[in-house]
Amino acid sequence: MDGVRDSHSASNAEPDDSDLSKLLDKPRLNIERQRSFDERSLSELSISNIRGPDGYDSIYSPGAAARSGFDTPASSSRYSFEPHPMVGDAWEALRRSIVYFRGQPVGTIAAYDHSSEEVLNYDQVFVRDFVPSAFAFLMNGEPEIVKNFLLKTLHLQGWEKKVDRFKLGEGAMPASFKVLHDPVRKTDMLFADFGESAIGRVAPVDSGFWWIILLRAYTKSTGDLSLAETPECQKGIRLVLTLCLSEGFDTFPTLLCADGCSMIDRRMGIYGYPMEIQALFFMALRSALALLKHDAEGKEFVERIAKRLHALSYHVRSYFWLDFQQLNDIYRYKTEEYSHTAVNKFNVIPDSIPDWVFDFMPTRGGYFIGNVSPARMDFRWFALGNCIAILSSLATPEQSMAIMDLIESRWEELVGEMPIKICYPAIESHEWRIVTGCDPKNTRWSYHNGGSWPVLLWMLTAACIKTGRPQIARRAIELIESRLQKDGWPEYYDGKLGRYIGKQARKFQTWSIAGYLVAKMMLEDPSHLGMVSLEEDKAMKPLIKRSASWTC
Ligand code: GLC
Repeated sequence: MDGVRDSHSASNAEPDDSDLSKLLDKPRLNIERQRSFDERSLSELSISNIRGPDGYDSIYSPGAAARSGFDTPASSSRYSFEPHPMVGDAWEALRRSIVYFRGQPVGTIAAYDHSSEEVLNYDQVFVRDFVPSAFAFLMNGEPEIVKNFLLKTLHLQGWEKKVDRFKLGEGAMPASFKVLHDPVRKTDMLFADFGESAIGRVAPVDSGFWWIILLRAYTKSTGDLSLAETPECQKGIRLVLTLCLSEGFDTFPTLLCADGCSMIDRRMGIYGYPMEIQALFFMALRSALALLKHDAEGKEFVERIAKRLHALSYHVRSYFWLDFQQLNDIYRYKTEEYSHTAVNKFNVIPDSIPDWVFDFMPTRGGYFIGNVSPARMDFRWFALGNCIAILSSLATPEQSMAIMDLIESRWEELVGEMPIKICYPAIESHEWRIVTGCDPKNTRWSYHNGGSWPVLLWMLTAACIKTGRPQIARRAIELIESRLQKDGWPEYYDGKLGRYIGKQARKFQTWSIAGYLVAKMMLEDPSHLGMVSLEEDKAMKPLIKRSASWTC
């Protein structure tokens, strides 16, 4: 495919890299390793799994790829209970969304909604939207479409990308692509969008990160290292890294971004150092570390990644973290402090703390706030940033627990009737005018402005399993099952409780469908977690406790 050979290339991997050696393990051993997440949750969750003699044999069954029925999930035959009636419908809808390029499946379209007057770009394969589809296929033992997608997007990365007369960075990955059929030449053509056609010309910073995360998931799930080890994939990883590890004027290890550069792909006041991107950045760096060969070209990147991870985890864990104690400390901050002895390092003015935070913050619990930069803390809670922080182990185990405590104690606000809010709270009135530029799609409690997005269910479920709190995921899944299929798998819901189908929400939104399937499969078989989650890296410790770091 496009000059990318599938042949296995010899590995020069350093045997002492723990993450890499995990990947090098035989698939069955991978499963053994995955046992190290909370045993309580594992034993609680796995009662319904059919166990082999050693308890793990039957969990990993990539052979399920040899499936009989087209619309029957392979997983259903592996479980001893009847799957929820929604599952079959979801698989059918997911398969209907598959996009083919010259006869090969290469992705899934964003939404299969023919009732909608305007297609916009929902008929394209979005990189971020395909991730839950990819996980669903991998968990169901169908890696081929994922491999094709990874290679196709890698090929697109190689294109020369321009917005007007400005040439984009070599490593940029597209936000989305489309397969067009040329009836004259009787062949399929590719069209990609790197932001040059996107509404607002937003930069898809998250695409390259998702690509690396997905490559690791593919490798981990199939045990097939040969794809990641091709010179083309290695180069693709290095090109993404070149974009985000370059030296500049920064005083922080976090990645400086323009507004709308992630799932929230329009102006929402998330420019600067958005938590969503920092968490994905961290996860992509850790994934890259596991995938990069320690050859002449890779070695330099491995060293740079290790240094950045160290600084990034310290910065985010210390300065983005907010809990009751920390909020109280900020509330009492002095300002205008000079020199390295400053306690209020970013000169945050306590008056800028919004009123809602004081009520929202439980005594037990905490979260990573949305953004930190000079004199600016965005106190909003973002679902993706906090869940990915747990999955990537950017959050310490204590912080992960605290995030789950907060979700539990603020269930009505963050989940309400539909899991889960993309961010909390919504911005309104004057602030909405200034921050969104009067965006009519992002009115309060709608879309990106406090709307509820079913796709986030998979991240929430994975975070619940990782922290040993599966009962929270079950509650969320129950809510989804009471409405999602009936409502036609909407893209998002509106309202303070997430009770109304979003005013401009697409129906049959693929990632809402795939997110549900992934959540179900993970709860039924928690060994899948290893694909979407990274274990804590002990070398990243110690975290100097907030109070200590604040005074040193
Ligand atoms: C919207 C969402 C974006 C998603 C796209 C396709 O633009 O904001 O996150 O990737 O739709 O579903």
